[in-house]
Amino acid sequence: MPQPHLRTVVVLAAGEGKRMKSTLPKVLHPLLGRTLLGHVLSAAAPLGADRTVVVVGHGADQVRAHLSEVAPDATPVLQAEQLGTGHAVRIALDAVPDGAGTVVVINGDVPLLRPETVGALVTAHEEAAAAATVLAAEVPDPTGLGRIVRDAEGRLEQIVEERDADATQRAIREINAGIYAFDAVRLRAALGKLSTDNDQGEEYLTDVFGLLRSAGEPVAVHVAVDHVETLGCNDRVELATLRRLLRDRVNEAWMRTGVSLLDPATTWIDVTVALDRDAVIDQNTQLRGATVVGAGALIGPDVTLIDTIVGPAASVVRSHAVGAEVGAGASVGPYAYLRPAARLAEKAKIGTFVEVKNSEIGTGSKVPHLTYVGDATIGEQTNIGAASVFVNYDGVNKHRTVIGSHARTGADNMFVAPVEVGDGAYTAAGSVIVDDVPAGAMGVARARQRNIEGWVVKRRAGTAAAEAAQRAGDAKGARRPGDAKGASEGAGAASDSEAIHGAAETVGGTSGPGDTATE
Ligand code: UD1
Ligand code: MG
Repeated sequence: MPQPHLRTVVVLAAGEGKRMKSTLPKVLHPLLGRTLLGHVLSAAAPLGADRTVVVVGHGADQVRAHLSEVAPDATPVLQAEQLGTGHAVRIALDAVPDGAGTVVVINGDVPLLRPETVGALVTAHEEAAAAATVLAAEVPDPTGLGRIVRDAEGRLEQIVEERDADATQRAIREINAGIYAFDAVRLRAALGKLSTDNDQGEEYLTDVFGLLRSAGEPVAVHVAVDHVETLGCNDRVELATLRRLLRDRVNEAWMRTGVSLLDPATTWIDVTVALDRDAVIDQNTQLRGATVVGAGALIGPDVTLIDTIVGPAASVVRSHAVGAEVGAGASVGPYAYLRPAARLAEKAKIGTFVEVKNSEIGTGSKVPHLTYVGDATIGEQTNIGAASVFVNYDGVNKHRTVIGSHARTGADNMFVAPVEVGDGAYTAAGSVIVDDVPAGAMGVARARQRNIEGWVVKRRAGTAAAEAAQRAGDAKGARRPGDAKGASEGAGAASDSEAIHGAAETVGGTSGPGDTATE
């Protein structure tokens, strides 16, 4: 966009925001993905300003640190004492050497301001070659705000603060939004003439309009189409109201691009999130930060995604994810927790009560139930049995587990890292895998079971269990009278030292140790 004017943006952010009752400076309070200040800066960004000055004061160090992250090109200027908005702009301009062009001033606490609106204000101002133009809005309740006072011809006469206004002026519902465009040269001249002769004893930026008007300079009012954009934030109740309003705006915009929101009132999407067509977002869902959701993906109900990338046609149900990647067609939940660098390839599955951190889950691989996967690489088409733990931490260092492709690990396994299970390998249920399992092998690491026949009848005589055992023995005896292991015989023979079956037997036969693996 060709720019006839040098443009300077000044954001006023030195105030304390007393009514927020917070240790955090007001402009740093978050609102759907950006701070209040961040919203204002991004509304001003399309102006393509030659420089941006942010006046800082209360919590200056915190505000400066934030600026260096979100707007490293902006120049923070310290206003050590908050002597008024006019004083703040004067200090800002002292930091800007050359005089010409347009100065756009924006209060730091109007986060709903849209770029189009500030753009229209600046264009109108520059086209009219005005000395100063204020953004105004007609509001239902003007309490606490500066009023736009017009003369008989409807031209701006002055801006009066509520506390300095008379009854007639207070009845005016057209207010000053705290967003202005000025001609730099005439602004500087007027700022030098500001008095502190008002109820607060401050230098009011708004007085510049009356001064310019009296000097015969052209001053103008640009009326905002939607007054909601001009709402400021003074306490946490207003912050919550702004959050709801912004949520509705964001949600409506996504629905218009072809995303389904099944319950917009309980869907909270940060302004930094990207959604593709035909994504379906179910109720009670929060999408935050740098989250991206691919085409046709199903998210929710009851999902929080933070900085998480979800591929096309994937689904995430009743789950929480931070810094994770979910591949195309993959499925997550219900009740999964994906932590940073959990990476699920295409069509992978992370099921119920499963936590994954810093791990790659290969294409089509499944971790369906009750499992912790930490610091692991799992190949393709592998199944991890239920209730397994990837034991990644020895108390000092973290170690990796590598599981190959087409592996089938048994239920209730511990993989004590560093350890590897090869391609196509199996592991037995209940195993603590401390040594590598070669490709195609069956890894077994558990004690053999022994049954002490008749123990209950002998040691717990007279209990319901003993009676049930006896009945079972009788029934068995009745069905198979010739059975050498009949109940009466077996029960009578039981003792702690006998009946340990097949102690030396090796794994194999029709029922392998891996047969309790789950899918
Ligand atoms: C100001 C306007 C009022 C307008 C309202 C819109 C003035 C005198 N009044 O009133 O007409 O309707 O905004 O919200 O300008 N700030 C500084 N340094 C200071 C004082 C303020 O940086 O010395 C910053 C604050 O952090 C804030 C902004 O300027 O971001 C506005 O200050 P605030 O005290 O909120 O002014 P209002 O009384 O709301
Ligand atoms: Mg204010």
